[in-house]
Amino acid sequence: MTKQKIRKAVFPAAGMGTRFLPATKSMPKEMLPLVDKPLIQYGVEEAIAAGCTEIIIVTGRGKNTIEDHFDRSPELEASLEARGKTALLEVARSVSSLAHITYTRQSEALGLGHAVLQTKQLVGNEPFAVILPDDLVDAKTPCLKQMVEAFEETGASILGSEIIEGPSISSYGVLKCSPSSWDARLLAIDDMVEKPKFEDAPSKNAIIGRYILTPRIFELIEKVTPGAGGELQLTDAIRALLKYEKVYGFTFEGKRHDAGDKLGFLKATVEFALKRDDLGPQFREWLKEFPL
Ligand code: UTP
Repeated sequence: MTKQKIRKAVFPAAGMGTRFLPATKSMPKEMLPLVDKPLIQYGVEEAIAAGCTEIIIVTGRGKNTIEDHFDRSPELEASLEARGKTALLEVARSVSSLAHITYTRQSEALGLGHAVLQTKQLVGNEPFAVILPDDLVDAKTPCLKQMVEAFEETGASILGSEIIEGPSISSYGVLKCSPSSWDARLLAIDDMVEKPKFEDAPSKNAIIGRYILTPRIFELIEKVTPGAGGELQLTDAIRALLKYEKVYGFTFEGKRHDAGDKLGFLKATVEFALKRDDLGPQFREWLKEFPL
């Protein structure tokens, strides 16, 4: 296979975010702020850092604030300018100039595979990245950048993977895999299982919300049989992809936070706040005094 550049990053953001109700009744989960930045912006910045130039966001009903967030805000900018708030003006402006963003809609939340399928025309016939905005990876080298580098070596689809200890592995897609002989971070995948029972999990290598996929995935998603609730699972399509192409797991360097889960979101908030120069020292002092 000829190795192409990863130019496009897809962000599925059309889910219902039920784990965050009632906050997500009228507000997209992807817009929940981690300290002061919406989850999806962390993902978009990661994609740009990995060299992506086209961002494709899959939205749905009630998700308009995502588009507003990445758009210019002339009234806000004029007001900040008039009040001489130049630093904040820069913050507001920089968001809207981050990247070229295209939006497409998933009219019903019929699963991750279905969300990705909505981008078929926009992605076209080239390999692309998928970032799940509620999986946050804190890493020296951004997670997707590490994966793009691995893709440049392999030219094959690559799934971000993490070791998950204990029964919580049952919440993930899990790889049946073995380390490749030439790069310990790359796992040659034989098979994968979606949300196995703990005792049936073929390994501790779970799939997380970072993917690089070859375009053949679209025709395979189209062939997937819908599961419970009519959902099209991306994992089922990747499983089918294994019959045609090599697919690798990739053990990234960095720390992942499951910010789509309440406890994971709280942990991420604390860790990110502690790392901030402007908040960290005071927050740390306050935490020390907090009666636990
Ligand atoms: P999640 O399963 O974490 O999101 O999907 P969810 O379904 O919105 O959340 P809960 O479980 O009800 O709390 C991961 C990402 O995939 C998107 C979500 O918006 C989220 O960013 N997604 C999921 C879609 O775009 N479409 C879907 O049909 C399902």
